[in-house]
Amino acid sequence: MRELDDRARAILTGNDRGGYTVPTRGLYPYQWNWDSAFAAMGFSAFDPDRAWRELETLFAAQWETGMVPHIIFHEVDPGYFPGPDVWQTHRQPPTTGITQPPVAATAARRIYERDHDRARLAALYPKMLAWHRWFAAHRLDRGAVCIAHPWEAGRDNAPDWDGAMAGVDSSGVGEYTRRDTAHVDAAMRPQKIDYDRYLSILYFGRDTGWDAAEIAANGPFFVADPSMTFILLRANRDLAVLAGVLGEDSGEIEGWIAELEAGAETLWNADGEYYDSRDVRTGTFANSLSCASYLCWYAGIDNRRMLEHLRSVLGRVRYGVPSYDPEGPEFNALRYWRGPVWGVVNFLIADGLAAAGHEVQADRIRADTRALIERNGFFEYFDPLEGRPAGGDNFTWTAAIWLIWAG
Ligand code: DGY
Repeated sequence: MRELDDRARAILTGNDRGGYTVPTRGLYPYQWNWDSAFAAMGFSAFDPDRAWRELETLFAAQWETGMVPHIIFHEVDPGYFPGPDVWQTHRQPPTTGITQPPVAATAARRIYERDHDRARLAALYPKMLAWHRWFAAHRLDRGAVCIAHPWEAGRDNAPDWDGAMAGVDSSGVGEYTRRDTAHVDAAMRPQKIDYDRYLSILYFGRDTGWDAAEIAANGPFFVADPSMTFILLRANRDLAVLAGVLGEDSGEIEGWIAELEAGAETLWNADGEYYDSRDVRTGTFANSLSCASYLCWYAGIDNRRMLEHLRSVLGRVRYGVPSYDPEGPEFNALRYWRGPVWGVVNFLIADGLAAAGHEVQADRIRADTRALIERNGFFEYFDPLEGRPAGGDNFTWTAAIWLIWAG
């Protein structure tokens, strides 16, 4: 595997734009929030200084509110839509007005454990704390973390959002030109109706001047999401450990952990018996067994029924974990978050399973992910049935997880 280790490192350094890493050339030409956290963990395997730098660049774009934006537009690129002219957040550097899954504290802990740079950790700590405090202040519904836009979850077109998205009126969106389908096959991307609604939700936020309270109260899309809830819960556990390292009081963080643990249980769909997305506006579940459901272990929550679902799903695909139930009505093996396997989510799921002692499933998921990469290269996502590559190539986070596993 030496050759693939070398290629993975070359992808990270090749996607390095000087202090930040793009997810992949062309399709995603900026710094994305959670991609950056994975890039940082990948860099920590061979260049700890560069790993810290990635997180420092990310937090340099943090808003005064504590929010850390989902994209930082360091250098404007006409090959991407919607760019800073559409978001209009009036920041320097320009950013989007929404956030993304808070993996950064977990990344910081991992980097610190390899490279005990207390000063750099101490500088990042209050920023991470402020971001988590922003979530607690603006994004909890009964303790579960809500997204105000599908792009916040990172799982843009997951069937999890179909019900809530159907209620978004996109009649006023007008004409625009997508850029994503100029880079990859349109059959692997969200559809036009999805994009219309993504823009409509964006315009609502923009018209409020990106007012978090107004968005939470009246935004056209507000969904309590298992992936955000589990990822923030885990990030708070890691942040509490870092507080201990720095001799800081972790009381506030412990409070959030308890709140999120209770919140996670409000995502339990008792009919399907799994963790599910819940539309806050209507109170209804999505009825979507997705890869997000399996992040419970990553958050430190063991669940017998979820393990049964996982065993069953792994028995029905050649390569796990499909991002959506392969027997669900919306399954599509190639369309982005409606079925394909995402190495980066597999990394999180396997990490949680291993920590909970479910080694058989963790091993299977890691082996499947490695096999997909060995067969195809470092693609963005993969077909769970036939193992075909999909989306962007030479993808930063796919290379990053390879390097973390290579140790
Ligand atoms: C995109 O442009 O497809 C991204 O997923 C938005 O974050």
